[in-house]
Amino acid sequence: MKGLLKIGLLLVSLVAFGLIPLSVTNAAENDAKGLFEKRCSICHATSRPLGKTKSAEEWRQTVIRMKGYAGGKISDEEAEIIIEYLSETRGK
Ligand code: HEC
Repeated sequence: MKGLLKIGLLLVSLVAFGLIPLSVTNAAENDAKGLFEKRCSICHATSRPLGKTKSAEEWRQTVIRMKGYAGGKISDEEAEIIIEYLSETRGK
């Protein structure tokens, strides 16, 4: 019985150590995606950016231009998160 308990505890800690970093990464990814979908669908469909691939520098220029159109609806910090998200998922 004691042996089983030990194995159980070992399994639980393995799962915990394995899953915590994974869920943190996913949460950060979902946040960036969610933010992108919210901010970048105000004026046009997200298919507009999603149909393109650009270098990180080009995404920076595009997002900064969009931020200019948005008149305060996209903060500096949000722009950085979206630039990083697009450079990673739609980079070239
Ligand atoms: C305030 C309105 C507005 C918002 C918010 C907005 N856009 Fe745009 N977007 C436009 C307009 C207007 C155009 C067409 C004129 C142009 O390209 O500058 C455009 C065009 C685009 C294009 C095609 C032109 C190109 O450079 O490839 C992309 C890609 C794009 N937007 C991405 C985004 C992204 C990413 C976001 C979120 C950060 C965003 N937009 C948010 C108004 C907006």
